[in-house]
Amino acid sequence: MPTPDLDRARAALAAGDAVAAEAALRGAPPSAQALALRAGVEAMRAEPAAEASARAALAIDPGCGLAHRHLAVALIQRGDPAAALRHAERGAALEPDDPGAHEVVAVAAAGAGRFGAAWDAFVRVAALRPDDATPWRNAGQVALAVDEHAAAAHAFTQALARAPTLAPALEGQARALAALGRDADAAAAWARLAALDPSRADARHLATALAGGHADAPPPGYARAVFDANAARFDELLVDRLQYCGPALVRAALADRAPFPRALDLGCGTGLVGAALRDRCAHLTGVDVAPAMLAQAARRGCYDALVAAELIDFLAAGADRFELVVAADVFIYVGDLAPVFAALAPRLAPGAAVAFTTEAGAGLTLARTGRWSHGGDHVAARAAAHGLAVASRTAATLRREPSGPVAGEVWVLIAPS
Ligand SMILES: C[S@@+](CC[C@H](N)C(=O)[O-])C[C@H]1O[C@@H](n2cnc3c(N)ncnc32)[C@H](O)[C@@H]1O
Repeated sequence: MPTPDLDRARAALAAGDAVAAEAALRGAPPSAQALALRAGVEAMRAEPAAEASARAALAIDPGCGLAHRHLAVALIQRGDPAAALRHAERGAALEPDDPGAHEVVAVAAAGAGRFGAAWDAFVRVAALRPDDATPWRNAGQVALAVDEHAAAAHAFTQALARAPTLAPALEGQARALAALGRDADAAAAWARLAALDPSRADARHLATALAGGHADAPPPGYARAVFDANAARFDELLVDRLQYCGPALVRAALADRAPFPRALDLGCGTGLVGAALRDRCAHLTGVDVAPAMLAQAARRGCYDALVAAELIDFLAAGADRFELVVAADVFIYVGDLAPVFAALAPRLAPGAAVAFTTEAGAGLTLARTGRWSHGGDHVAARAAAHGLAVASRTAATLRREPSGPVAGEVWVLIAPS
């Protein structure tokens, strides 16, 4: 039978106050409830002892819902979400009216890749806490993770009805609406987020792009924000899922040229171009604006030097010259090529090659994706302004997105001798 002290400990735990819960438990006899609550305190502090405390509680009372729940939390922390889910479900069956029990089911299910079960559990939490935006936000994020965009948009709408300025819900709603092709609504969601948080350059930029607006360049900080956030899964996303092949295309375009004494990889990212061209370059420098991408490139070990810098700033700041400059899948995040080529021209050795990819288009167009396409007219005019001759221009598929193959071009320009 719970005592007032155990009730106090349980209330403190539910409120996230481990110190008060521990104080209330002091001196409590070692009942199943007391041990289960102790497991909760330990789990909240990520202490491995939580698992043993929860199992001790279950040895006394195998039907203790709180012990199953806190054992589940301990198992999530130990990295075993499948086992956690079994105990979480048992805990929720024993305490069906406690939203905390369903929350643990949701987290365990998401960890185990059971996104349908995670969605159901978050919706159950939402029903038990009708004024709380958080379970709807979490449900939306689960739905987004499995590309269930209509469900995600519904969940984020519910979250925003309860907390209109909840930034992760606004962002999730913008992404879900964009995936559903509701560009104007998605643009409005990004614009609301940008108004709430002026530091969100990505929100501002995507609001413009989805509203069909024009820009010559991204807002400062845009590429860094996007790529720092995605660096850890860039290779898996681009190469494995989207079959990105920019580096191989650039290598093929340069195949009949002599090796390069000094080469520069602009927007080197995680170093895929370095890996593709290393054997053709005596000295290879990588430059990128996103430090998290550079950290991946450093791990790859294909560069003689890596520099964290915006590429135009880097080009304008130095004087060394290069026989090869590469930019694979980079100018689509830069926009107008006039300032790039102006900064690049003085850094090219006589007869140097400049190899890069573009997304195919006409003129300079900001697409709904937030990336730019460059028409042949734009590239040729900007190149000619600096005496760069077009040596080759090859149509190619750059990657395969869920919406279809992305048509691009691989360019090689040659500097005056
Ligand atoms: C799509 S990734 C391509 C990476 C690499 N070139 C490849 O082919 O795998 C684009 C990279 O360009 C970088 N980038 C975009 N705009 C940049 C800028 N203005 N200055 C420096 N790096 C930039 C990003 O941080 C990102 O790492």
